[in-house]
Amino acid sequence: MSRLRLAVLASGRGSNLEALIGARDRGRLGIDIALVASDRTEARALHVAREAGIATLALEPKSFPDRAAFDRALFAEVGEVQPHLIVCAGYMRVITADLVGTWLGRMINIHPSLLPAYPGLRTHARVLANGDREHGASVHFVTADLDAGPVIAQARIAVEADDTPESLAGRLLPLEHRLLVASVGLFAAGRVALDGRHVRIDGLRLERPLQLTDKGTLV
Ligand code: GRF
Repeated sequence: MSRLRLAVLASGRGSNLEALIGARDRGRLGIDIALVASDRTEARALHVAREAGIATLALEPKSFPDRAAFDRALFAEVGEVQPHLIVCAGYMRVITADLVGTWLGRMINIHPSLLPAYPGLRTHARVLANGDREHGASVHFVTADLDAGPVIAQARIAVEADDTPESLAGRLLPLEHRLLVASVGLFAAGRVALDGRHVRIDGLRLERPLQLTDKGTLV
């Protein structure tokens, strides 16, 4: 099978992008990253991409009359590289519904919570405020509703009594990286598809999200 061509959307640090690049370089992931696109010209993710010789695109929202116009311009460029899959990896903008529709089933996001719990921002602080014993991250298909698309896979951590939002984020991040790499690996192997509100793996409807093991596999 040919390699999976990705476009990655990132607004910030780009550590999830680095994880994808690292897995590719170690021969663990049959992907080509055709483009890294950002809504922030200063995003570290763009620097990470350039260092790795990956084409980049940065568009500033304030240069466009509205969100729809920005998204049309961004996704026109993304579409030029004909990605098999768009990965939102720390992409902090809500995407307009018609563009989501265009890419439905071909766009995923990594989110730092055990969805459907805690869509949106400040997930670590909200987990602590609610006294949850468990936290985690989810990779899900992007749909028109924010952080509410069908979940493909999750990674879990226990919340400790002395945790802070920062300690939770720090402990979760390495698992996010493994979760994203393993999830993209499913796409590279042609094993995953969106079927309405359901995820199919190897043609079978997933009853609950796959879980990341200590070995970095999904079960
Ligand atoms: C991650 O925590 C991801 O779950 C969230 O934003 C963060 C991005 O981190 N959506 P990075 O830019 O990949 O380092």
